[in-house]
Amino acid sequence: MASCNDTHEISYENTIAEQAQLVVIMVPFPAQGHLNQLLQLSCLISSYGIPVHYVGSAIHNRQAKVRANSLNPLDVVKLRFHDLTTPAFDSPPPNPNSTNKFPLQLQPVWYAMLSLRQPVAEYLKHISMQAKRVVVIHDPLMSVVVQDIASIPNADSYVFNCSSAYFHSSFESESLGKPFPIEQPKNVPSFEGCFSDDAFKIGALQVEPMKYRAGDIFNTCRALEGPLIDLIEREDAAENRKLWAIGPILPSKSLSANSQHKCLEWLDKQARNSVIYVSFGTTISLSDEEIKELAMGLEQSKQKFIWVLRDADKGNVFDGEVRRAELPDGFVERVKGLGMVVRDWAPQPEILAHPSTGGFMSHCGWNSCIESITMGVPIAAWPMHSDQPRNSVLITEIWKTGLIVREWGLREELVKASTIENVVRRLMALEEGNTIRKRAEELAAAVRQSTVEGGTSKVELDSFIAHITGQNMDCVSPTSSSIPSSSACNNSSHASAA
Ligand SMILES: *[C@@H]1O[C@H](CO)[C@@H](O)[C@H](O)[C@H]1NC(C)=O
Ligand SMILES: *[C@@H]1O[C@H](CO)[C@@H](O)[C@H](O)[C@H]1NC(C)=O
Repeated sequence: MASCNDTHEISYENTIAEQAQLVVIMVPFPAQGHLNQLLQLSCLISSYGIPVHYVGSAIHNRQAKVRANSLNPLDVVKLRFHDLTTPAFDSPPPNPNSTNKFPLQLQPVWYAMLSLRQPVAEYLKHISMQAKRVVVIHDPLMSVVVQDIASIPNADSYVFNCSSAYFHSSFESESLGKPFPIEQPKNVPSFEGCFSDDAFKIGALQVEPMKYRAGDIFNTCRALEGPLIDLIEREDAAENRKLWAIGPILPSKSLSANSQHKCLEWLDKQARNSVIYVSFGTTISLSDEEIKELAMGLEQSKQKFIWVLRDADKGNVFDGEVRRAELPDGFVERVKGLGMVVRDWAPQPEILAHPSTGGFMSHCGWNSCIESITMGVPIAAWPMHSDQPRNSVLITEIWKTGLIVREWGLREELVKASTIENVVRRLMALEEGNTIRKRAEELAAAVRQSTVEGGTSKVELDSFIAHITGQNMDCVSPTSSSIPSSSACNNSSHASAA
C-alpha cells in the first residue's frame, strides 16, 4: 500500500506546531485484533480533524498498516505513525499440535513491550511540552507502559477495551470471586484453559497502573450489551470515571486495496446466503489432524465455503518462513466449484458484508464477532482461547445468533468431520439456520442504527470527542469526507434487508 508510507521520527513536531492544541496518542497492544481496533479508532478520531499518533514498534506499526482491513488508505495516511525502538525479541513459530490454543509464541514480544515504559514516557513528555492537551488512548494491556502519564499535568489517559462488556464483567467477577452481576445463562464455559500463566502475569501487572485512567471506551453498544454497560458505567462513575460505548467502530465503507480479492469475485457468482466463511483469526494454528477433519467435514456438508487456512501470527509477522498446512490428498480438486481455500490475507469484512455469505465458522475473537454481528451473519462458534469462550456465549445463548461447534468442556478432544458436517448443515441448509439468520439480521439492523446520527454509539462518540476537545457537543462533527458521520457498515446488503 503505497499510500501508507511511514511517517518518521520527527514528523509529529509539525502537527503540534500547526495545531498546538489537542493531540491524541494511541498505544495499542501488539496482537492483530488489538492493533486493528486501535487503528480503526484512530481513523475515526482523525475524521474529526484531530491529529492522531499511533505509537508502537516499527514491526507492529507496519503490521497494522498492511493489514488495515476496509479502512481507506487516504484516512490511514493521515495518522502519524511513531516507531519506538524495542529490544530484540524471539519470534518462534506457533505449535499447531498443542490442544491448548493460547498463542504462547507471542509471549516474548509481549514481555519485550513491557520495557517500553521509558521511551513512551519520554515521547509523551516531549509532546506534552508542545501541545495544549495530550490525550492518551491505550489498550488495558499497555497500562504499565503509559503509567507516567500521571506526572504530566496537561495529559490524561483513557482505556480502549478490545473485548465485549460481557467478557470484561465475567473476568472481573471471576478474579474477585464475586457472582456475575446480572442473570446469565446456566452453564457458562470456565476460564480454565483460556489463558497461559504468563498472560495472567502480564495482566496482573496492569491492575495498579490502570487506575490512572480517566475513562473507559468500549467497542460495543447499548443494543448489544445495554444492561452490562449501564452497570460498568455506574462502577466507573463511583471512581470518577466516564464511560463511552461507541461500537461497532468498523469503517462505514470498504475502500481498502483488498476489495479486489479473488474470493469476492467468486462470491459474486454464488447464490444469496449460500456460502459459509471459515476463519479462525490470527492467533490459532490447527494441527494436520484438525485440518483433515475440518476439510472432510466441509466437503461432506456439500455446502459452499470459503476457508481461510493460515498459520497463527508470530511475534514478528514479517520474519521468515510460515508453515503451509497440508490439505488431504485431492481435496482441492474434489471441492472445485464447491469451495475455495484462501492462504493469504483475506478481506474479512468485505466477505462478511457480501450477500452470498450466509454463515461464519469462527473462533469468536471480538473483531470477528463485531464484524459478523454488524453484517447480520450468524456464527458457528468454535472458541479457542482468551475471551472467545465467553464471546461464544453471547452469540449462542444470549443473542441466539449462532450455534456451538464444540463445547468448551470438550476442548481437549479432536473435533470430528461428522461434527463439522452436522453444524454446517444445520446453519446453512436447514430451517433452524434460517431462523438464526433472521435473528442475526434483526440484531444487525439495531446495531447499525446505533452508529447513525442520533444512535447511541454515535451520540457517545460525539460526546467523547466533545469531552477531549472541551467543546460543546453540538459543534462536534467529523470533517473527513471518507468517513461519514456513521461508523458502521451502511453498505452491507444483509442487514438492510432485515
Ligand atoms: C506436529 O505433528 C506432526 C505430525 O502430526 C509433525 O510432523 C510435526 O513436526 C509436529 N510439529 C511440531 C511443531 O511439533
Ligand atoms: C478490558 O479488557 C481487558 C482484557 O483485554 C480486561 O482484563 C479489563 O479488565 C477490561 N476492562 C477495562 C475497564 O478496560
